Amino acid sequence: MTDAAFATAAQVLAQHGATSPIDCAIVLGTGLGGLVDQLDDAIRIPYAAIPGFPTGAVSGHARQVCIGKLEGRTVLIFQGRAHYYEGGDAAVMRVPLGMLSALGSPPLILTNAAGSLKPEMPPGSMAVIADHINFNGPNPLVGDGGDGRFVPMVGAYDPKLRAALKAAASAERLSLGEGVYMWFSGPSFETPAEIRMAQVMGADLVGMSTVPEVILARRHGIRVAGLSVVTNMGAGLHGGAPHHGETKDVASAAAADLARLLRAFLRGL
Ligand code: HPA
Repeated sequence: MTDAAFATAAQVLAQHGATSPIDCAIVLGTGLGGLVDQLDDAIRIPYAAIPGFPTGAVSGHARQVCIGKLEGRTVLIFQGRAHYYEGGDAAVMRVPLGMLSALGSPPLILTNAAGSLKPEMPPGSMAVIADHINFNGPNPLVGDGGDGRFVPMVGAYDPKLRAALKAAASAERLSLGEGVYMWFSGPSFETPAEIRMAQVMGADLVGMSTVPEVILARRHGIRVAGLSVVTNMGAGLHGGAPHHGETKDVASAAAADLARLLRAFLRGL
């Protein structure tokens, strides 16, 4: 998938003084943006300044690209993502991910806030995504051309990156669960009946993001890992009555652990 918009976006970054090569890219989800404050020599570019990047806002998400140094690595952070539920476009993150391919396809860590279906992954804990279920349905590659659109999804969540995240978690003595993430469209949360269905279908985590970004990234051959910060139990489970205020509050409280995990991961890169 080549597109002039990808190179143009990469050029805008270069014009703002972005250094390359990028060692790792990270998407920070709801309430998890604080890591950008730890970047050294950071440059910040609002999405609005990059052609093709999503506009709009969700509270808990600033929207900017930040590039700087963390643990001696050059890191590009997408602070805040756009979601399917904002306008019904599964490909809303097409240009940001295409830009990564124009920047040499660094490994990508996608973070999100998620609901948990497993008592052993309680609110405040973290989990690495092993696989996903696109229950929402729409695919960001609909309308894409050529044979490259038939993207294999076995091993989409890169086994080596997953192992590296687990090693980083044990080095930091952080507990890290693992599970299958099921994509719901949002923006309403699931009903208790939908959560029971998700359990029967093999999901461990539920959320409103990440899946289309993984598909887009794999279209470009970018290696990806997904990390969920559990902000609540799924609707109707013990203690599960999710709402956005809780998502933001619990994610913000867990952001320090996420930062420790990502820093340890970067040290090992
Ligand atoms: N469901 C969907 N998305 C979410 C949840 C949830 O329970 N928690 C955080 N994001």
